[in-house]
Formats: sequence, C-alpha cells, structure tokens
Amino acid sequence: MSVNLRSAPFTPGARVIGLGSSQPQRVVTNDELAEHIETNDEWIRERVGIISRRIADPDTPLVEFAADAGSKAIADAGLSPSDVDTIIVATCTMPNPIPNAAAQVGHRIGLTAPGAFDMNAACAGFCYALGMASDLVRAGSSEHVLVIGAEKLSHWVDWQDRSTCIIFADGAGAMVVGPATTAEETGIGPLVWGSAGDLYPTIRILDEPGESGKIYQEGQTVFRWATTQIDPIALRAVERAGLALEDIDVFVPHQANLRIVDAVAKRLHREGAREDMRVARDIVHSGNTSSASIPLAIDHMRAAGQISRGDVMLLVGFGAGLSYAGQVVICP
Ligand code: UT7
Repeated sequence: MSVNLRSAPFTPGARVIGLGSSQPQRVVTNDELAEHIETNDEWIRERVGIISRRIADPDTPLVEFAADAGSKAIADAGLSPSDVDTIIVATCTMPNPIPNAAAQVGHRIGLTAPGAFDMNAACAGFCYALGMASDLVRAGSSEHVLVIGAEKLSHWVDWQDRSTCIIFADGAGAMVVGPATTAEETGIGPLVWGSAGDLYPTIRILDEPGESGKIYQEGQTVFRWATTQIDPIALRAVERAGLALEDIDVFVPHQANLRIVDAVAKRLHREGAREDMRVARDIVHSGNTSSASIPLAIDHMRAAGQISRGDVMLLVGFGAGLSYAGQVVICP
C-alpha cells in the first residue's frame, strides 16, 4: 500500500529567547592552587589568563547547577517549564555514561516528559547543541528547546597535574531556543562544524590499565591548532549567515586560554572585524568550563551591561575530538 506521510510544518527560523547561567559558590584562586602544586599566580595569569575559577563540592552533582542555569533561562524567556518540550545537555563530564544528564535535569526543572538527550562534542558541545536546537525548531520537531552546556571538570581533573588542574573549572550556561515566525526574526545563523579526528590523542582521558583515569592534554599541540585553525571557521560561520566580519558586535570563542582568545580575535581584526568588536574574556574569573564556557560568558557579559538585545554575536567552540563548530546568534 502506498501512503503519503505528513511532515511536521516548517518554521521560517529559530532564535534564542532566554539566557541563564549557574556556577558553584566556591572560588578557587591561583594562590590556593599553589599551596598544593608547584605553580604560581604570575605563571597562570601570564600563560592562561585565569585569576580565579569556580569549583563544585565533590558531592554537588553536575545536574544541580545545570538545572539552575536552565531554570533561569526559561524564566528569562518568559516561559514556564511546561512550555519546553525538548532539552539537550552538552557535556563531557558526567560521572557515568548512563543515565544521561538531560532527563534528570528536565525532571529537576519540572519539564513535562521532554525529549531529552546529551551531546558530547567536548568544548564545542554548546555550539553543536545550539545548532541542533535551531534545526529541531525549524523542522517542526520541537517548539521550545532548552540547551544547556554544563561541566564538572573537577571530577575528571588530576589535581596533581599542574598543566591541566590550573585551567579547568565547573559551571553551566543555558539558552532557550524558540520559533521565529518570520525570516526577519531569525536569530540563529547556520551551523558550521567539523572535526580533526587525527588529533584525537591530544585531549583524552588516560584510561589504559594503570593510568589515572583523569584528563590529559597535549597543551602546546592544541594551542597551535586553535590559534591557526579557528579563525577560518569563525569566518565561514559569518559568511554562511550572509554577513561580513564588520557586522559582528561581539566575539565569543570557547574560553580555553586568554592567549588563544586574543590571538584569534587579532586575526579576525586583521580580516575585517571592527576595532570596537567586544571580545568575551570570561575565562579570567570562570576558568575553562568546556561546553559551558560560551553561554556562561554571554550571560555574564549581558549582566555586566557589555552586550544587549539585538547585538550580533559570533560564537565558536573547539576542543577534544578535536571537534569544532560556530554560528552567528542575535542576543535576546
Ligand atoms: O579547552 C579545550 C582546548 N584546550 C586548549 O585550547 C588548551 C590549549 N593549550 C594551552 O592553553 C597551553 O598549552 C597550556 C595552558 C595548557 C600550557 O601553557 P604553555 O604555555 O603551552 O606551557 P607549556 O606546556 O609549554 O610549559 C612551559 C613550561 C614547562 O616548563 P619547562 O619544561 O619549560 O621547564 C612546564 O613544565 O611551564 C611549565 N608549567 C608550569 N609552570 C608553572 C606547566 N604548567 C605549569 C604551571 N605552573 N601550572
């Protein structure tokens, strides 16, 4: 028998309609780290740009601050939890592969039986998840998607490894994505994504027999890759959104290292970005929170009055995989 299946009705576009973030209370300074490992405040500030970071208590689960960020984003959107039908949590630091974070977080927030899945593209995860949310809304599969980037890196860090424990931190950032009823209202540009799988050993968990089970990073290799390969991805995201670099008001790269942020921003300036383009430097007081770093930075910049509704933001995430992704987003 031949039948004609009906597709869900398409929506002209998608946009971000709410923001929120959450960090553990505990502030850990460079001096505090220097009490336990051979490092110092000056080295960390100069080489990474971090002054302090937030670290969760061992018994505080990732889903707790993920849910806090998500609730704030829903309230910011002017919605109630029952309006959200889908939740995506971008994370690579759950303590176990199952159960996923998304279903638990949705339950904590009070969503009603949402579609719920996690996405692991490490530090690029938020951009991947935001792109997925935009496509779900445009295709009519979802109406309102809660996208959360949440990490508890402190669980996976070797606190004796000074090359990683000084960088990574905990936190969560969230956005609500909803429909744009006209093409003019569209607030999320096309996703540009990719990976360099040949570099997979450069950031990984040391899981061979006898190894620590903690994060390892070949810092210099990743540093070189990020400072030379990220600006073309950012540029492609701008072009695919039908814009030029001079249209970008705010640049929000993954907060991996302040020297990487500044190096990529410098390249974008050379390629046509305006001198007054604001650049996210949230790593200074948040550390590197992997998939949480981009939404955390945006929420903090908005709270500080550095960005406002309608600003054109260029996001680009990159990290373990190696995976990368970027898109242009209009600030809600
Ligand atoms: O988020 C996912 C993506 N990740 C990234 O993008 C991270 C990219 N990489 C980086 O950000 C940097 O490579 C690091 C911050 C990880 C390291 O900085 P670096 O400037 O590349 O340092 P290095 O590893 O080349 O080490 C330079 C020196 C070494 O000493 P020697 O061999 O020259 O005597 C290290 O042992 O600095 C030493 N060192 C430290 N010294 C004081 C390494 N870590 C520390 C430390 N304190 N915490």
